Amino acid sequence: MIWVPQQTGDGSFTFFSETFGEAFHSDKGAKSEAFEKFAQVTDLVALAHQGTVRILDVCYGLGYNSAAALETIWQVNPDCHIELYALELDPTVPIAATSPNLLESWTPDVREVLIALAQDLQCDLRGLNATLLIGDARKTISSVIASGFQADAIFFDPFSPRKCPQLWTVEFFQLVKTCLASSGKLATYSRSAAVRSALIEVGLVIGSIPLEANPLSKQWSMGTVAAFESGLRSTLPELSPMEWDHLMTKAGIPYRDSSLLGTQAEILAQHEIEQNESQRRSTSSWRRQWGV
Ligand SMILES: C[S@@+](CC[C@H](N)C(=O)[O-])C[C@H]1O[C@@H](n2cnc3c(N)ncnc32)[C@H](O)[C@@H]1O
Repeated sequence: MIWVPQQTGDGSFTFFSETFGEAFHSDKGAKSEAFEKFAQVTDLVALAHQGTVRILDVCYGLGYNSAAALETIWQVNPDCHIELYALELDPTVPIAATSPNLLESWTPDVREVLIALAQDLQCDLRGLNATLLIGDARKTISSVIASGFQADAIFFDPFSPRKCPQLWTVEFFQLVKTCLASSGKLATYSRSAAVRSALIEVGLVIGSIPLEANPLSKQWSMGTVAAFESGLRSTLPELSPMEWDHLMTKAGIPYRDSSLLGTQAEILAQHEIEQNESQRRSTSSWRRQWGV
Protein backbone atom coordinates (compact mmCIF):
# COMPACT_ATOMS: atom_id res chain seq x y z
CA MET A 1 0.00 0.00 0.00
CA ILE A 2 1.26 3.48 -0.91
CA TRP A 3 0.29 6.06 1.69
CA VAL A 4 0.30 9.66 0.48
CA PRO A 5 0.61 12.23 3.28
CA GLN A 6 -2.08 14.92 3.30
CA GLN A 7 -1.63 18.12 5.27
CA THR A 8 -4.23 19.00 7.92
CA GLY A 9 -5.19 22.36 9.44
CA ASP A 10 -2.41 22.46 12.06
CA GLY A 11 0.31 21.63 9.49
CA SER A 12 0.68 17.98 10.54
CA PHE A 13 0.07 15.15 8.08
CA THR A 14 -2.48 12.36 7.86
CA PHE A 15 -3.29 9.55 5.40
CA PHE A 16 -6.50 8.71 3.57
CA SER A 17 -7.71 5.09 3.54
CA GLU A 18 -9.25 4.02 0.22
CA THR A 19 -10.44 0.81 1.93
CA PHE A 20 -12.44 2.63 4.60
CA GLY A 21 -13.12 5.77 2.53
CA GLU A 22 -11.95 8.06 5.31
CA ALA A 23 -8.98 10.11 6.50
CA PHE A 24 -7.09 8.90 9.59
CA HIS A 25 -7.55 12.20 11.42
CA SER A 26 -9.69 15.31 11.59
CA ASP A 27 -8.87 17.76 8.79
CA LYS A 28 -8.64 20.46 11.46
CA GLY A 29 -5.37 18.99 12.72
CA ALA A 30 -4.04 15.46 13.09
CA LYS A 31 -1.49 16.20 15.77
CA SER A 32 -3.66 18.60 17.75
CA GLU A 33 -6.43 15.99 17.76
CA ALA A 34 -4.06 13.52 19.44
CA PHE A 35 -3.30 15.98 22.24
CA GLU A 36 -6.79 17.45 22.71
CA LYS A 37 -9.02 14.40 22.40
CA PHE A 38 -6.76 11.73 23.86
CA ALA A 39 -3.76 12.88 25.94
CA GLN A 40 -5.55 15.72 27.77
CA VAL A 41 -8.84 13.92 28.29
CA THR A 42 -7.18 10.93 29.97
CA ASP A 43 -5.33 13.11 32.55
CA LEU A 44 -1.84 12.05 31.48
CA VAL A 45 -0.15 14.98 33.21
CA ALA A 46 -1.58 13.98 36.59
CA LEU A 47 -0.76 10.32 35.96
CA ALA A 48 2.81 11.18 34.94
CA HIS A 49 3.33 12.93 38.28
CA GLN A 50 2.35 9.69 40.02
CA GLY A 51 5.21 7.87 38.24
CA THR A 52 3.48 5.06 36.31
CA VAL A 53 1.16 5.22 33.29
CA ARG A 54 -0.37 2.25 31.45
CA ILE A 55 -1.87 2.96 28.04
CA LEU A 56 -3.87 0.92 25.55
CA ASP A 57 -3.91 2.53 22.08
CA VAL A 58 -6.70 0.91 20.04
CA CYS A 59 -6.05 1.62 16.34
CA TYR A 60 -2.46 2.83 16.47
CA GLY A 61 -2.33 3.96 12.82
CA LEU A 62 0.46 6.52 12.41
CA GLY A 63 1.05 6.34 16.17
CA TYR A 64 0.05 9.96 16.83
CA ASN A 65 -2.00 9.23 19.95
CA SER A 66 0.83 7.23 21.50
CA ALA A 67 3.36 9.85 20.41
CA ALA A 68 1.34 12.73 21.90
CA ALA A 69 0.96 10.71 25.11
CA LEU A 70 4.71 10.12 25.38
CA GLU A 71 5.52 13.78 24.74
CA THR A 72 2.98 14.85 27.36
CA ILE A 73 4.25 12.40 29.98
CA TRP A 74 7.98 12.94 29.40
CA GLN A 75 7.59 16.71 29.57
CA VAL A 76 6.24 16.33 33.11
CA ASN A 77 8.25 13.34 34.32
CA PRO A 78 11.17 12.15 32.16
CA ASP A 79 11.59 9.08 34.41
CA CYS A 80 7.97 7.97 34.33
CA HIS A 81 7.44 4.22 33.99
CA ILE A 82 5.19 3.70 30.96
CA GLU A 83 3.60 0.49 29.72
CA LEU A 84 1.99 0.74 26.31
CA TYR A 85 0.04 -1.75 24.25
CA ALA A 86 -1.04 -0.67 20.76
CA LEU A 87 -3.36 -2.54 18.39
CA GLU A 88 -3.28 -2.07 14.60
CA LEU A 89 -4.56 -4.07 11.63
CA ASP A 90 -2.27 -2.81 8.88
CA PRO A 91 1.52 -2.86 9.47
CA THR A 92 2.17 -0.66 6.41
CA VAL A 93 0.61 2.35 8.17
CA PRO A 94 3.10 2.69 11.08
CA ILE A 95 5.95 1.98 8.64
CA ALA A 96 4.80 4.74 6.26
CA ALA A 97 4.51 7.09 9.25
CA THR A 98 8.28 6.84 9.84
CA SER A 99 9.17 8.82 6.72
CA PRO A 100 11.35 11.80 7.71
CA ASN A 101 8.79 14.53 6.90
CA LEU A 102 6.20 12.87 9.14
CA LEU A 103 8.58 12.23 12.01
CA GLU A 104 10.17 15.65 12.11
CA SER A 105 7.49 17.28 14.26
CA TRP A 106 8.11 14.82 17.14
CA THR A 107 10.91 14.97 19.71
CA PRO A 108 13.95 12.70 19.08
CA ASP A 109 12.95 10.15 21.76
CA VAL A 110 9.42 9.89 20.41
CA ARG A 111 10.76 9.44 16.88
CA GLU A 112 12.90 6.58 18.12
CA VAL A 113 9.85 4.91 19.67
CA LEU A 114 7.75 5.31 16.49
CA ILE A 115 10.54 3.78 14.37
CA ALA A 116 11.16 0.87 16.77
CA LEU A 117 7.45 0.05 17.06
CA ALA A 118 6.96 0.15 13.28
CA GLN A 119 10.01 -1.99 12.55
CA ASP A 120 10.35 -4.32 15.56
CA LEU A 121 6.83 -4.09 17.08
CA GLN A 122 8.56 -3.57 20.42
CA CYS A 123 10.36 -0.72 22.14
CA ASP A 124 12.17 -0.39 25.45
CA LEU A 125 13.47 3.12 25.93
CA ARG A 126 13.94 5.12 29.14
CA GLY A 127 11.14 3.83 31.38
CA LEU A 128 8.97 2.80 28.46
CA ASN A 129 7.96 -0.74 27.60
CA ALA A 130 5.85 -0.71 24.42
CA THR A 131 4.37 -3.43 22.21
CA LEU A 132 2.52 -3.11 18.91
CA LEU A 133 0.19 -6.03 18.15
CA ILE A 134 -0.64 -6.43 14.46
CA GLY A 135 -3.97 -7.96 13.41
CA ASP A 136 -7.69 -7.50 13.92
CA ALA A 137 -8.09 -5.81 17.31
CA ARG A 138 -11.05 -8.10 18.04
CA LYS A 139 -8.49 -10.93 18.18
CA THR A 140 -5.25 -9.28 19.31
CA ILE A 141 -6.92 -7.79 22.38
CA SER A 142 -7.06 -11.32 23.81
CA SER A 143 -3.26 -11.18 24.41
CA VAL A 144 -3.67 -7.92 26.30
CA ILE A 145 -6.45 -9.42 28.39
CA ALA A 146 -4.42 -12.59 29.02
CA SER A 147 -1.52 -10.51 30.35
CA GLY A 148 -3.83 -8.92 32.95
CA PHE A 149 -3.01 -5.43 31.63
CA GLN A 150 -5.07 -2.67 33.26
CA ALA A 151 -4.89 0.63 31.39
CA ASP A 152 -5.05 4.03 33.06
CA ALA A 153 -5.80 5.46 29.63
CA ILE A 154 -7.43 3.87 26.61
CA PHE A 155 -7.28 5.74 23.30
CA PHE A 156 -10.15 4.46 21.19
CA ASP A 157 -9.63 5.63 17.62
CA PRO A 158 -11.09 3.39 14.87
CA PHE A 159 -12.50 4.79 11.64
CA SER A 160 -16.04 6.11 12.11
CA PRO A 161 -18.84 3.74 13.18
CA ARG A 162 -20.48 3.52 9.72
CA LYS A 163 -17.11 2.77 8.07
CA CYS A 164 -15.77 0.36 10.68
CA PRO A 165 -18.67 -0.83 12.89
CA GLN A 166 -16.63 -3.96 13.76
CA LEU A 167 -14.81 -1.99 16.47
CA TRP A 168 -17.77 -0.04 17.90
CA THR A 169 -19.93 -2.96 19.02
CA VAL A 170 -21.16 -3.84 22.49
CA GLU A 171 -19.18 -7.09 22.27
CA PHE A 172 -15.86 -5.41 21.44
CA PHE A 173 -16.37 -2.74 24.12
CA GLN A 174 -16.96 -5.58 26.58
CA LEU A 175 -13.43 -6.85 25.81
CA VAL A 176 -11.92 -3.35 25.89
CA LYS A 177 -13.54 -2.71 29.27
CA THR A 178 -11.70 -5.76 30.67
CA CYS A 179 -8.45 -3.85 30.03
CA LEU A 180 -9.55 -0.62 31.75
CA ALA A 181 -8.21 -0.05 35.27
CA SER A 182 -10.86 0.71 37.89
CA SER A 183 -9.73 4.37 37.97
CA GLY A 184 -8.88 4.58 34.24
CA LYS A 185 -10.48 6.57 31.43
CA LEU A 186 -11.32 5.67 27.84
CA ALA A 187 -11.35 8.54 25.34
CA THR A 188 -12.77 8.57 21.83
CA TYR A 189 -13.46 11.27 19.25
CA SER A 190 -16.90 9.76 18.57
CA ARG A 191 -20.04 11.43 19.91
CA SER A 192 -22.29 8.93 18.12
CA ALA A 193 -25.37 7.94 20.10
CA ALA A 194 -24.87 4.26 19.15
CA VAL A 195 -21.33 4.35 20.54
CA ARG A 196 -22.36 6.11 23.74
CA SER A 197 -25.20 3.60 24.29
CA ALA A 198 -22.77 0.70 23.79
CA LEU A 199 -20.41 2.14 26.42
CA ILE A 200 -23.31 2.47 28.86
CA GLU A 201 -24.54 -1.06 28.04
CA VAL A 202 -21.16 -2.54 29.04
CA GLY A 203 -21.41 -0.80 32.42
CA LEU A 204 -19.39 2.39 32.01
CA VAL A 205 -20.46 5.93 32.77
CA ILE A 206 -19.92 8.49 30.03
CA GLY A 207 -19.13 12.16 29.70
CA SER A 208 -18.78 14.55 26.81
CA ILE A 209 -15.55 16.02 25.48
CA PRO A 210 -16.85 19.58 25.23
CA LEU A 211 -16.06 21.91 22.35
CA GLU A 212 -14.48 25.28 22.84
CA ALA A 213 -17.50 27.51 23.52
CA ASN A 214 -18.82 28.71 20.16
CA PRO A 215 -22.50 29.66 20.18
CA LEU A 216 -22.71 29.56 16.37
CA SER A 217 -21.38 26.04 16.06
CA LYS A 218 -23.73 23.28 14.95
CA GLN A 219 -21.31 20.85 16.61
CA TRP A 220 -22.09 19.95 20.19
CA SER A 221 -19.17 17.84 21.37
CA MET A 222 -15.84 16.58 20.10
CA GLY A 223 -16.03 13.15 21.63
CA THR A 224 -16.79 10.92 24.57
CA VAL A 225 -14.96 9.89 27.72
CA ALA A 226 -15.92 6.76 29.67
CA ALA A 227 -14.96 5.26 33.03
CA PHE A 228 -16.15 3.02 35.85
CA GLU A 229 -18.44 5.00 38.14
CA SER A 230 -16.77 3.55 41.24
CA GLY A 231 -13.31 4.71 40.13
CA LEU A 232 -14.16 8.32 39.27
CA ARG A 233 -12.10 10.87 41.18
CA SER A 234 -14.17 13.74 39.78
CA THR A 235 -17.28 13.91 37.66
CA LEU A 236 -17.00 13.62 33.89
CA PRO A 237 -18.19 16.60 31.80
CA GLU A 238 -21.99 16.15 31.68
CA LEU A 239 -23.78 15.42 28.43
CA SER A 240 -26.29 18.15 27.62
CA PRO A 241 -30.05 17.36 27.76
CA MET A 242 -29.94 17.34 23.93
CA GLU A 243 -27.21 14.69 23.94
CA TRP A 244 -29.04 12.48 26.45
CA ASP A 245 -32.18 12.81 24.36
CA HIS A 246 -30.16 11.68 21.30
CA LEU A 247 -29.43 8.35 23.04
CA MET A 248 -33.17 7.65 23.32
CA THR A 249 -33.72 7.83 19.53
CA LYS A 250 -33.12 5.10 16.95
CA ALA A 251 -29.58 6.46 16.58
CA GLY A 252 -28.95 5.27 20.13
CA ILE A 253 -29.31 1.59 19.21
CA PRO A 254 -25.82 0.11 19.51
CA TYR A 255 -23.98 -2.05 16.97
CA ARG A 256 -23.73 -5.76 17.77
CA ASP A 257 -21.35 -8.52 16.68
CA SER A 258 -22.08 -11.61 18.78
CA SER A 259 -19.41 -13.75 17.04
CA LEU A 260 -16.80 -10.94 17.03
CA LEU A 261 -16.21 -11.99 13.43
CA GLY A 262 -18.88 -9.96 11.63
CA THR A 263 -18.07 -7.97 8.51
CA GLN A 264 -18.94 -4.30 8.11
CA ALA A 265 -21.89 -5.24 5.86
CA GLU A 266 -23.24 -7.87 8.27
CA ILE A 267 -23.05 -5.59 11.32
CA LEU A 268 -24.68 -2.65 9.50
CA ALA A 269 -27.44 -4.90 8.13
CA GLN A 270 -28.28 -6.29 11.57
CA HIS A 271 -28.22 -2.76 13.01
CA GLU A 272 -30.63 -1.55 10.35
CA ILE A 273 -33.06 -4.39 11.08
CA GLU A 274 -32.98 -3.55 14.79
CA GLN A 275 -33.58 0.13 14.04
CA ASN A 276 -36.49 -0.62 11.68
CA GLU A 277 -38.15 -2.89 14.22
CA SER A 278 -37.70 -0.42 17.08
CA GLN A 279 -40.56 1.72 18.39
CA ARG A 280 -38.10 4.44 19.38
CA ARG A 281 -38.42 8.01 18.20
CA SER A 282 -36.77 8.84 14.86
CA THR A 283 -33.50 10.69 14.90
CA SER A 284 -34.80 13.20 12.32
CA SER A 285 -37.50 14.36 14.75
CA TRP A 286 -34.78 14.77 17.40
CA ARG A 287 -32.80 16.87 14.90
CA ARG A 288 -35.82 19.08 14.20
CA GLN A 289 -36.53 19.53 17.90
CA TRP A 290 -32.98 20.61 18.77
CA GLY A 291 -32.12 22.36 15.48
CA VAL A 292 -29.07 20.26 14.66
C1 LIG B 1 -8.65 6.54 12.39
S1 LIG B 1 -7.26 5.52 12.08
C2 LIG B 1 -6.32 5.63 13.56
C3 LIG B 1 -5.42 6.82 13.63
C4 LIG B 1 -4.35 6.66 14.68
N1 LIG B 1 -4.86 6.59 16.02
C5 LIG B 1 -3.29 7.71 14.54
O1 LIG B 1 -3.09 8.50 15.47
O2 LIG B 1 -2.67 7.77 13.50
C6 LIG B 1 -7.93 3.88 12.25
C7 LIG B 1 -6.91 2.78 12.24
O3 LIG B 1 -7.59 1.57 12.54
C8 LIG B 1 -6.96 0.53 11.83
N2 LIG B 1 -7.93 -0.59 11.80
C9 LIG B 1 -8.98 -0.79 10.98
N3 LIG B 1 -9.63 -1.92 11.28
C10 LIG B 1 -8.97 -2.48 12.33
C11 LIG B 1 -9.14 -3.66 13.10
N4 LIG B 1 -10.15 -4.50 12.85
N5 LIG B 1 -8.26 -3.92 14.07
C12 LIG B 1 -7.24 -3.05 14.35
N6 LIG B 1 -7.04 -1.91 13.66
C13 LIG B 1 -7.89 -1.62 12.67
C14 LIG B 1 -6.65 1.15 10.49
O4 LIG B 1 -5.66 0.43 9.80
C15 LIG B 1 -6.21 2.54 10.91
O5 LIG B 1 -4.83 2.58 11.10
